[in-house]
Order: sequence, then C-alpha cells, then structure tokens
Amino acid sequence: MKIFIDTANIERIKEINSWGILDGVTTNPSLVAKEGMDLRTCVKQISEIVDGPISAEAMSMKAEDMVKEGRELAAIHENINVKLPMCIESLKATKKLSEEGIKVNMTLIFSSQQALLAAKAGAAFVSPFVGRLDDIGQDGTDLLVQIMDVFENYDFDTEVIAASIRHPIHVYAAAAIGCDIATIPYDILTKMVSHPKTDEGIAKFIEDYKKSKK
Ligand code: E4P
Repeated sequence: MKIFIDTANIERIKEINSWGILDGVTTNPSLVAKEGMDLRTCVKQISEIVDGPISAEAMSMKAEDMVKEGRELAAIHENINVKLPMCIESLKATKKLSEEGIKVNMTLIFSSQQALLAAKAGAAFVSPFVGRLDDIGQDGTDLLVQIMDVFENYDFDTEVIAASIRHPIHVYAAAAIGCDIATIPYDILTKMVSHPKTDEGIAKFIEDYKKSKK
C-alpha cells in the first residue's frame, strides 16, 4: 500500500519524507488554510520535496471553471493532480481533464456508487472518507470494502485512497482490504512507529550494552 501524508505543513512533509516511506501528499482547503499559505505556493513547495502524486483542490463549482482551474494547478508541477469534490459538475470536468492527461482525485466520496461514477468519468484516484463516516455512526471501513469489491470486478485504472484516517487501526483496515493508498495525518504516522514494548526493548538493550562495555 502506498502511503501519502494528509497535510499542507511543509516541515511535517519534510520530516515524514526523510523516513523513506512517503509516496505522495494530499492537501485540502482546510489543511492549506491552517498553514496560512495560498494553495499554489504550498503545492509548489511540496513538489520540490516529494517525488510523488500531490493533490491540490480546485474550488470552482462549474465544470468549465473546474477544467480551467485544474489545468492551472496541474501546470505548477507534473506530479500535481486536481482534487474535485464529488458532484455532477466535477464528473464532467473529470472526463475532460482525464482526456487531457490531467489526473483527478475525486474527493468527498461517501458511497460505492459515487466511486463507480468517478472511475467511469476517468478519475485517477477516489478518496472515500472513512473517519467522517465513523463520526456519524456508520462504519467507514465498510465503505472501503464495498469500493474495493466493486473495482475488483472491472479494469478501472482508478486507485482507491483511504482518506479521513483517524487512528492506526484505520490504516491497518485499509491495508488488509488492499486499498492502493492511505493518506495519513502526521500524528497517526508517528503513532504507527511506536509500541511500548519496542521502547522498553530498546531501553533494555542500551542498558545491557553499557553494562557489557564495563
Ligand atoms: C483527504 O484527502 C482529505 O484531505 C482528508 O483525509 C480529510 O480528513 P478529515 O476528515 O480528517 O478532515
């Protein structure tokens, strides 16, 4: 499974990239706003750090404006894909942009039917939001299973990004189901590294090593 980081924070992207496990980055308008940057500057900086897909969200509401904005975003760097929110206008824009070779990440996916339509329109990625479904008492992991089951039947090139990840168990679920990608917040990535027994083991080995040197 490919691992993307879900943030617009440049320092955190640099840090996780240095781990050697990072395959790409997703941003969204809320994440970019939190960093006090404009989107274009932000994704340009990210593209200088990470060699992999970077999602930049277009904010237009009409298909032709989405296409125009999408072209502008994609022109910033070859790794930039255009994030569009699931709706009729974005399906039309996805068709056009994908025909031009510009990759689309269809975001705010909450049903397998939406994912199917996005794939049919030519989206390179679909982003089902696992955590936001859990938040309202539905099982977000079930949605991943449904989408993977549907996609298994066909030859779509569309990759499934498990998004809105809230904890490490979501990451495990996405990997166990066989999702192509999980986009993971910084805090969850750091939680995935540690285990109390690992920390305890390291401390003990250091202690014993020091003793053996005496
Ligand atoms: C996906 O690309 C989104 O940026 C993200 O995963 C949303 O997560 P949230 O529900 O934690 O805001």
